[in-house]
Amino acid sequence: MATVNVAVLGAGTVGSQVIRLIEEQGRDLRARAGAELNLQSVVVRDVSAPRDAEIDPALLTTDAQAAIDSADLVIELIGGIEPPRTLVLDALRKGKTVVTGNKALIAAHGPELHEAATAGGADLYYEAAVAGAVPVVYGLRESMVGDKILRVLGIVNGTTNFILDAMTQTGASYEDALAEAQRLGFAEADPTADVEGLDAAAKCAILASLAFHTRVSIEDVAVEGISKITADDIAEAEAGGNVIKLLAIAERITQEDGSEGISVRVHPTLVPRDHTLANVHGPFNAIVVDGESAGRLMFYGQGAGGAPTATAVLSDVVAAASHIAHGGNAPCELVYANLPVLDASVAVTRYQVQLKIADRAGVLAEVAGVFADNGISIKSVNQKDASEGSEDGSREEGGTAVLTILTHRATEGALATVVKQLAAADSVREVASILRSEVSA
Ligand code: HSE
Repeated sequence: MATVNVAVLGAGTVGSQVIRLIEEQGRDLRARAGAELNLQSVVVRDVSAPRDAEIDPALLTTDAQAAIDSADLVIELIGGIEPPRTLVLDALRKGKTVVTGNKALIAAHGPELHEAATAGGADLYYEAAVAGAVPVVYGLRESMVGDKILRVLGIVNGTTNFILDAMTQTGASYEDALAEAQRLGFAEADPTADVEGLDAAAKCAILASLAFHTRVSIEDVAVEGISKITADDIAEAEAGGNVIKLLAIAERITQEDGSEGISVRVHPTLVPRDHTLANVHGPFNAIVVDGESAGRLMFYGQGAGGAPTATAVLSDVVAAASHIAHGGNAPCELVYANLPVLDASVAVTRYQVQLKIADRAGVLAEVAGVFADNGISIKSVNQKDASEGSEDGSREEGGTAVLTILTHRATEGALATVVKQLAAADSVREVASILRSEVSA
């Protein structure tokens, strides 16, 4: 039986589980790949650093270059852009197959990595880059390649789903829910990439590239994170029969001239309580894919964590090892469609706009007029005294009221103009929040 020499770069949460599973399930993996996986080296920053997993010390090295040069298959699980970019490019150009879980790298440098893979005649696999154990990369790249994908929409970041879910279940503030997520190990000490939507944006770009056969970079994705979501937003959503989820959305849009483009965006979204995505709890991920002929498919499962994500890495390793031993290649990058990524302003959705207004005659008409002037149709309006909930319920004439306006579908561009005009209006004290409402029950 052929032997495939493997180098693992990085022995963190996922890397250590990949190493454990290769050791523990070597016989099964060998039978499935039709090749012996020979774990040759594990590249770490500091050989003597304490580590949870028991890794044979003889495998540990800091010499990434030597490890790559002697391997047939390189598993990159360091994360971040550098040094992974340089190491992966080098490996691919030398004809070494690379399996990576590095979403930031693929989303920012996908084209040059694919070019290096083609130049080196190597495979590039990245199932673990999106949604951990959930096989959505394979699903889009291979299972659904026979269909025209219309939209990919879902929860692709477990940290933010955990935080929003905790806020919904307990009424906690954003800060308290984040602290709890950090305490339980669901959020990192520096949570920026997750809570500001950057991790989801990278995944959104990868999913869009696969779904629409077009190069989409993280730079193309319009991003808004969850750090401004308040307990009041959650309560307001609940009162309207919704929960708030951070959704990644990639959709095909037919423009007025009949040509097609794509819209890619990540933002907190109102989801009706009885929608499937509203019932994705804790750190789980779920992605809904609409195919023109297949209809709706849903991918659901653990989007993070060492062992779940390691299974995605190993699925790539089995496929890659089989190709190395018996011939064949990973599907190449398909970017033939080359659809334009449309400006964020053309995306169409519904909005919930919350305003703090001066509570006096004519204000409602003025606010409604701003929406009308910009062609946005209002679906419903709810007004509350800002003093509601105060001990004596008293309210001064001319005080502040909170206005919650739900709209019908409109473009982001029209909404942005409305918000600008409202913010400048004398009677509007504050545009308190804007939430999108993307899916119907
Ligand atoms: N930080 C990611 C998440 C997991 O919270 O989903 C790795 O992509």
